[in-house]
Amino acid sequence: MDKRDGIFSPAGVVVDLGAAPGGWSQLALKRVGKAGAVIAIDCLEMEPISGVEFIQDDFTEQSGLQAVEQALAGREVDVVLSDMAPNLSGHAAIDQPAAIYLAELAADFARQRLSKTGCFLVKMFQGEGFDQFRAQLLRDFNKVITRKPEASRSASRECYLLAREPVL
Ligand SMILES: C[S@@+](CC[C@H](N)C(=O)[O-])C[C@H]1O[C@@H](n2cnc3c(N)ncnc32)[C@H](O)[C@@H]1O
Repeated sequence: MDKRDGIFSPAGVVVDLGAAPGGWSQLALKRVGKAGAVIAIDCLEMEPISGVEFIQDDFTEQSGLQAVEQALAGREVDVVLSDMAPNLSGHAAIDQPAAIYLAELAADFARQRLSKTGCFLVKMFQGEGFDQFRAQLLRDFNKVITRKPEASRSASRECYLLAREPVL
């Protein structure tokens, strides 16, 4: 997706929400280089990745948000990634609203902290609440595209929404 859509740029500031075990953080770090910054948060532990500032906390809690804000120290964000996924119960009626809630929190953060040219990438599962979430992104960002990367099984409901340029 980065090759196709050009998500990262050298020296960019990236916030990775739901980062463990660190796959996306590692890629982001490679793309932004030493002049950039990657701030990552997860409730779970993550093996240290040199160059990634990792916060172990819950992003839905005030403490988690504050820790990310503190790490940013007033810098604007170029990319917000969210791969946060709730603990799955196996019941769509519980799991889907929980996933949408995490995506909404990430979108709120992105709207508030992204630069004018920034982008927000969120992994989603198509289902109840997906269309409303996408419709809200279309109101809050100038460009929104839906992607289903080759790596994600074609039958799966998993997809990615990429929103660019928050409407100020
Ligand atoms: C699919 S995994 C992320 C994989 C990661 N993007 C990677 O490339 O290695 C989802 C992660 O979201 C985290 N997560 C779920 N809810 C969270 C929350 N409220 N705050 C922080 N992390 C959360 C989980 O702990 C889990 O590690």
